[in-house]
Amino acid sequence: MSRAKIIRMPDGKPDIAALEEAGRILKNGGLVAFPTETVYGLGGNALDPEASKKIYAAKGRPSDNPLIVHIADTDALPPLVKSIPEKAKLLARKCWPGPLTMIFEKSGIVPMETTGGLETVAVRLPDNEIARELIRRAGGYVAAPSANTSGRPSPTCAKHVEEDLADTIDMILDGGDTDIGLESTIVDFTSEVPMILRPGFYNLELLSGILGEVRTDPGVFSENPDVRPKAPGMRYRHYAPKAELFVVEGAVPDVCRTIRALAEQQIRAGKKVGVICAEETFPEYGEGLVRCIGSRQDEETIAQHLYATLRDFDKEGVDCIYTEAFYTPQMGTAIMNRLLKAAGQKRIQAEES
Ligand code: TXA
Ligand code: MG
Repeated sequence: MSRAKIIRMPDGKPDIAALEEAGRILKNGGLVAFPTETVYGLGGNALDPEASKKIYAAKGRPSDNPLIVHIADTDALPPLVKSIPEKAKLLARKCWPGPLTMIFEKSGIVPMETTGGLETVAVRLPDNEIARELIRRAGGYVAAPSANTSGRPSPTCAKHVEEDLADTIDMILDGGDTDIGLESTIVDFTSEVPMILRPGFYNLELLSGILGEVRTDPGVFSENPDVRPKAPGMRYRHYAPKAELFVVEGAVPDVCRTIRALAEQQIRAGKKVGVICAEETFPEYGEGLVRCIGSRQDEETIAQHLYATLRDFDKEGVDCIYTEAFYTPQMGTAIMNRLLKAAGQKRIQAEES
């Protein structure tokens, strides 16, 4: 029997009695996992240093990796921060509630335990009814990292949370599969020009359309270990399956041929091989455990299925995974960022025929 009480709200509709109970757990310093539109979060009272310490312990997360404070209404933002730049107000009006996290100078009410020792705080207003109703009942401020064991792929359904955390937390609210499947875009407003620290559903183009000049943290895509990402969490190997993962890039037909050859080679050497491909190229592969992640014409489905696919391969116990690259129009930057991190940046250039 697992320790966590699991409450199902599979149609995404809030169960008020359950949310009252969950809110009480959070107020009393306990931990509750809950759905958001991006991935499931592991919630604790953000203003209680002891609750934050429990979150780090439950995830096995390094304590210098700060937590995002989740709020249910924009009115809850001012007490958390020293000031709110005009551009951040504009972005909040356009993108909140939604898959966006903003970073500000923190006020005195936010404990250093929540911000991993930083003077800045990350804040997000999620677009999920269960999440917001929970946050309101918990006192308004819920610190929540993704509800996975540190290093594993983020959870996109309650089952994933259960796999990782059922024995270490108090409650899991099951709100069904998450819509987006990748963590929120993080924008830092403490620098002169707003800076993307983690790509997500809102990409550079969309954000620039609203804010004017926006930069991307050079550390996000750097393969040079001296150029470190500004968000501490982006520095660790992350989102990673147990198997070795390789991202194969190039023209699609070349990618298919290269993956086929590599898979054959590994299978001959006695390895169990996984392949991640698009719907369009699925018929190209015969050998290994082949998983279709979605159509290249439907990037939302690709994003939604990414982490579940990686977890699936863990269950199957494969030794290595080859994935096609997915540079799709809106979320391609975020999808490739997560895939390359999961791969420890291992990429293979497909040879042209
Ligand atoms: O979509 C999401 O953002 C999900 C859901 C649950 O809301 N949460 C999430 O949290 O992804 P987590 O802890 O897995 O990732 C938070 C990221 C980490 O990379 C962390 O280092 C960064 O945000 N972060 C948090 N506070 C920061 C700060 N003050 N300065 C820089 N980076 C910060
Ligand atoms: Mg995470």
